[in-house]
Amino acid sequence: MADQETMPGCLLITGTPGAGKTTVSQLVAERLPRAARVDGDVFGSMLVSGRATMIDEEGRWNPGPEGQRQLRLRMVNLCSVADNFADGGFAPVADTVVETREELRFIAGLLRVRPLMLVVLCPPLEVARQRNATRAPETRVDYDVAPLARNQRRELGDLGWWLDSGEQTPEETADLIVVEAARRAMVPEGALRA
Ligand SMILES: Nc1ncnc2c1ncn2[C@@H]1O[C@H](COP(=O)(O)OP(=O)(O)OP(=O)(O)O)[C@@H](O)[C@H]1O
Ligand SMILES: [Mg+2]
Repeated sequence: MADQETMPGCLLITGTPGAGKTTVSQLVAERLPRAARVDGDVFGSMLVSGRATMIDEEGRWNPGPEGQRQLRLRMVNLCSVADNFADGGFAPVADTVVETREELRFIAGLLRVRPLMLVVLCPPLEVARQRNATRAPETRVDYDVAPLARNQRRELGDLGWWLDSGEQTPEETADLIVVEAARRAMVPEGALRA
């Protein structure tokens, strides 16, 4: 198991549902001496009432205006908590779906901790689907993740570290991230300027 003294800044692990963000970010945090996993989904499930449906009538991922507002609110909370952990001396390992450049710009604009390191887990879609299918039912998603994967590739394809974990175990992926993220995942200041 790879051990690292510290991880600079904030590590943001994204990818489609089922790509392995939660599994891998937990293992990455376990490999660091002082780290916190900051799970974007938690901030959605904290909404007890008034929560928007992100899935449309055809069963597609399609947050409407209120859904978009709530996704932004998740990001606001994610960034605040990540910064608080960083201020307290814990390396934040954030786990959330980022679909567009605009969303990444929004996150980068809120986060105070630097540098921002982006890892996009991109196993082949079939693998992500298979991983999704083998998860506990309450964590599974029912919609097709292909459009989201396409959007991510188009919007973020030139940023961060696109890591195909399709033939790796979660532990192998986490080891690789701990050792190489600082070199491969850095999002340079200015890369997100409109
Ligand atoms: N190399 C791998 N990396 C990550 N997960 C893997 C790997 N191989 C198998 N898995 C399994 O695939 C599933 C990935 O699910 P996980 O909850 O981590 O995905 P996620 O990206 O967080 O999805 P969501 O966006 O829905 O939260 C887990 O059941 C995990 O054990
Ligand atoms: Mg997850």
